[in-house]
Amino acid sequence: MVNTGQKYSLDRDCMTLSRHVLQQLQSFGPEAQDLSAIMGRLALAGKLIARHLSSAGLMEGVLGFTGSTNVQGESVKKIDEYANRVFISVFEQSGLVCRLASEEMDKPYYIPENCPIGRYSLLYDPVDGSSNSDINLNIGSIFSIRQQEGMDEDGQARDLLQNGRKQLAAGYILYGPSTMFVYSLGTGVHAFALDPSLGEFILSRENIQIPESSSTYSVNEGNFWQWDESVRDYIRYVHEQEGYTARYSGALVSDFHRILYQGGVFLYPGTVKKPQGKLRLLYETAPLAFLVEQAGGRASTGETEILDVVPEKLHERTPLIIGSKENVALVESFVQQGTRASQEAVTK
Ligand code: AHG
Ligand code: MN
Ligand code: MN
Repeated sequence: MVNTGQKYSLDRDCMTLSRHVLQQLQSFGPEAQDLSAIMGRLALAGKLIARHLSSAGLMEGVLGFTGSTNVQGESVKKIDEYANRVFISVFEQSGLVCRLASEEMDKPYYIPENCPIGRYSLLYDPVDGSSNSDINLNIGSIFSIRQQEGMDEDGQARDLLQNGRKQLAAGYILYGPSTMFVYSLGTGVHAFALDPSLGEFILSRENIQIPESSSTYSVNEGNFWQWDESVRDYIRYVHEQEGYTARYSGALVSDFHRILYQGGVFLYPGTVKKPQGKLRLLYETAPLAFLVEQAGGRASTGETEILDVVPEKLHERTPLIIGSKENVALVESFVQQGTRASQEAVTK
């Protein structure tokens, strides 16, 4: 006989990611099976990258730069290249994902053997926060799943140029003291922790709800000189209030993870050098916006909900204000006041 305590712990240990997906969708139908299998492959990618990172200080060829630059003009790290390849490899021979698009690839990548039946596209940031990798600090991977609605003849992938509400699923993997897999299928946000003894992601927190507000803000204040006056006004306001705390890790995934659990706001506004900010819509801001809305928070460009932004190109950037509802609304009120003031100045 199994006693109650043992049963509880067995139930918990058996709530693996793939089982959780089927439970969320309340179906064993083909789409549910596909999404469950996709999450299983993404989990394998996460485990492979986590394993690679765990030997970073011991093995040659993990850390440092490759010497090349990606389509964004950013220096590519060996870990970016490795992780990008991992996501491709785990979906080969899967029959699931026909096309992948990532920060590290100029154009979408097709896996021809999957395309006759693979109904999905995977968009991903293989390593987010890669400047943290050489110093053994938190980094992550971000992913988004969309239905594939067309093939692209010229590498433009026009069917991907739709708003973020078209996402079927989104999530991230956080490589921290433990490896965590956080995802949503549009039915709440759920977090799993990697149990190294089992090699499985086991449910850690279900239906995460972000606090309505918090006094934590997360932004690279080194860009102050490059911001619009309205963003500077918000930061001046924060500095004059009692109780605010700044936290900025250099990896969006880890700043977002903290905010998801504890509340607050992350912002990456446009700068003089990058008017649309640094972060990319399809595989950074839209997936996290999908998650934050599912957790009861918000994500905005300052003027528009991130999930309503329709990109014109694959690697499009957006300003980002994301987190607790009240914090996001406060930043927005500063940004919109600035927009009104500049419009009035033009009409005068
Ligand atoms: P990536 O490593 O995928 O290029 O992303 C880095 C991003 C994001 O993770 C982080 O929040 C931000 O860049 C940090 O940028 P700054 O150094 O300009 O603050
Ligand atoms: Mn990134
Ligand atoms: Mn990246």
